[in-house]
Amino acid sequence: MKIFDLPIETDRLRLRRVRHDDFDALFPIHSDPDVCRYLPYEPRDEAGMKEALNKRVALAELEPGGDALFLAVELKETGEVIGEVLLFYLNEEARQGEVGYVFSPEFQGKGYAYEATNAFMDVCFDAFNLHRICARCSAANDASWRLMEKLNMRREADLREHGLFKGEWDHMYIYAILEDEWRAHRS
Ligand SMILES: CC(C)(COP(=O)(O)OP(=O)(O)OC[C@H]1O[C@@H](n2cnc3c(N)ncnc32)[C@H](O)[C@@H]1OP(=O)(O)O)[C@@H](O)C(=O)NCCC(=O)NCCS
Repeated sequence: MKIFDLPIETDRLRLRRVRHDDFDALFPIHSDPDVCRYLPYEPRDEAGMKEALNKRVALAELEPGGDALFLAVELKETGEVIGEVLLFYLNEEARQGEVGYVFSPEFQGKGYAYEATNAFMDVCFDAFNLHRICARCSAANDASWRLMEKLNMRREADLREHGLFKGEWDHMYIYAILEDEWRAHRS
């Protein structure tokens, strides 16, 4: 799958390909234990962040089941990178995607994550012709599942103690929205 035309612009934000020089903005976010609490990895050290950044920059096409497409989210007004949105292209034939988001604590609680993810999902449904987009989060990650609900995604699964997450029983929600549901909410 070819990666669509970028950047994506919203009222306050610009979503664009991640670049090597985003290290200084992304490292403090991905090394913060509070940010990483519900992410499937521990806070990154410098080497881990460089490796993760190299993968993001090298991604030219999105392969099903492969690495995610990450877009840097910057404030239009200042050009500052405040977070990332991402898409895993899960299955080509069934046109399934999974969305995710990570924002700097300084820029949470301002509606930026919603604004970015809403515009990103719009483009994913259009440009990638996706049929369904899902998202997963820990039930304790209120900010994340509340964002999914603002995006009109439905809670499809409430998985209790289905596995271990960072050494403890995991309680996970799965949310999703179908393409026709997405379009119905927009019209
Ligand atoms: C999950 C995450 C992206 C949510 O970010 P967020 O900023 O809370 O989400 P939103 O963009 O929807 O912002 C919502 C808040 O902004 C407030 N807000 C302020 N100005 C606003 C505006 N102009 N428009 C909309 N909302 C606005 C809302 O009232 C709401 O506040 P509330 O939560 O106190 O009710 C963020 O918590 C995060 O990055 N967490 C760490 C990484 C992570 O866990 N990612 C998810 C893994 S599954």
